[in-house]
Amino acid sequence: MSRISYVNGRYLPHNQASVHIEDRGYQFGDGVYEVVLVLDKKLVDFALHYKRLRRSLDEISLVFDTTETTIKQILKRLIRSNLINDGLIYMQVTRGVAERAHQFPKNAAPSLVVTAKSIIINAEVEGKKAITTVDERWERRDIKTINLLPNCIAKQKAIENDAYEAIMVMEDGTISEGASSNLWMVNGDNQIITRNASNVILNGITKLALTTLADIHCYKVVEKPFTVDEAINAKELFVTSATAIVTPITQLNNHVIADGKVGPISAALRSSYLERAF
Ligand code: PDD
Repeated sequence: MSRISYVNGRYLPHNQASVHIEDRGYQFGDGVYEVVLVLDKKLVDFALHYKRLRRSLDEISLVFDTTETTIKQILKRLIRSNLINDGLIYMQVTRGVAERAHQFPKNAAPSLVVTAKSIIINAEVEGKKAITTVDERWERRDIKTINLLPNCIAKQKAIENDAYEAIMVMEDGTISEGASSNLWMVNGDNQIITRNASNVILNGITKLALTTLADIHCYKVVEKPFTVDEAINAKELFVTSATAIVTPITQLNNHVIADGKVGPISAALRSSYLERAF
């Protein structure tokens, strides 16, 4: 069976799915995206992803008329045609094809591209290593733009250091987030701390959902910045994203976190997130 992807109104074999070389996404990174988790054939938190997509579009003044219902239909069709049980959907909206000039084109139609792939999700995961790196991004990290070069460079540095994630550190010594995830720590009082939403992080949908879940479990979530030192001395560290779900971090640079084992809160939140999503 060939993998099927969606490009501007057409469902195509994945290897034939393409956009023009003058698409502004390709030339300028002029677009926004979402990654949606699929569990048991169902879209996880689609409404929240759609809301964030709309916000990102508004923030870059990209007019995109396709409705929530239509987008949902496209995503569901890709889940069916690609026989996905658990997987990930990638959707991207760019300002469309236009002769290369920096200013926004007057008459370009936005491009919508959607791909889907299966993934294997395990209820339990091993603790992973992360490294720290300087956050070199622009000041609007709250927009889920396809401009991800600093994130790619950070992730590459992680891979070259046998690490799963790069944790990005700002000039004031506080952690913003991971290259493609939000970071959380559990402190000595069993408070779960994650950075508050602002322009310096992408406000993760997994983060939003997990905050509600933590409440249900009577864990106290505090949303505030924390430093690398605090992270190193945490009882538990973990990252969240549509792809990582909840992934424990048991080593940061050369420091082992607590006893180096996956902590009970990280484990409980991961399994509870997966149960809730089913
Ligand atoms: N990235 N912060 C950054 C910089 C991210 O790229 C992501 C997700 C998150 C977590 O957001 P969410 O919980 O909504 O997935 C935080 C996606 C998965 C990616 O680029 O592949």
